[in-house]
Amino acid sequence: MEKTFAIIKPDAFAAGYAGKILARIYEEGFKVVGIKKLYMSKVEAEGFYYVHKARPFFGELTEFMSSGPCIVMVLEAEGAIKKWRDLMGATNPADAAEGTLRREFGGSVGENATHGSDAPETAAFEIGYFFSGLELL
Ligand code: RTP
Ligand code: MG
Repeated sequence: MEKTFAIIKPDAFAAGYAGKILARIYEEGFKVVGIKKLYMSKVEAEGFYYVHKARPFFGELTEFMSSGPCIVMVLEAEGAIKKWRDLMGATNPADAAEGTLRREFGGSVGENATHGSDAPETAAFEIGYFFSGLELL
């Protein structure tokens, strides 16, 4: 079984989509191993997205991620990393396939409803950034 890290981003949380997104997560067969609501500071968002710090959208991205509460989760399934990214859809909701979360709940490339780890190494970093081992029992 593989674990991945997921976020219901501030746009989707504020719009009241958390329940619908969680329902999809369970329907698709993920086990929710860790889950909590938090309100990231700018510094915490910068640390989380440090791989993007040289990108032109880094300021906008970290402002948005610290603009309101979100839900962070650890999801478990066979092939969880790819499975969750497939369920999210393309980064830009306009390019995301019908039936994906970003298509249904995302508003723009910057405010795209959900986050998912893109590889085993990033999943390990991202899970450890927000959760202790005790929270994942
Ligand atoms: P995420 O990390 O949030 O799951 O998204 P992703 O892998 O699909 O996309 P990534 O390349 O990692 O980009 C991280 C987030 O930065 C924002 N972004 N804005 N304005 C832009 O051109 C642009 N490009 C990326 C998106 O919100 C994306 O989710
Ligand atoms: Mg990414």
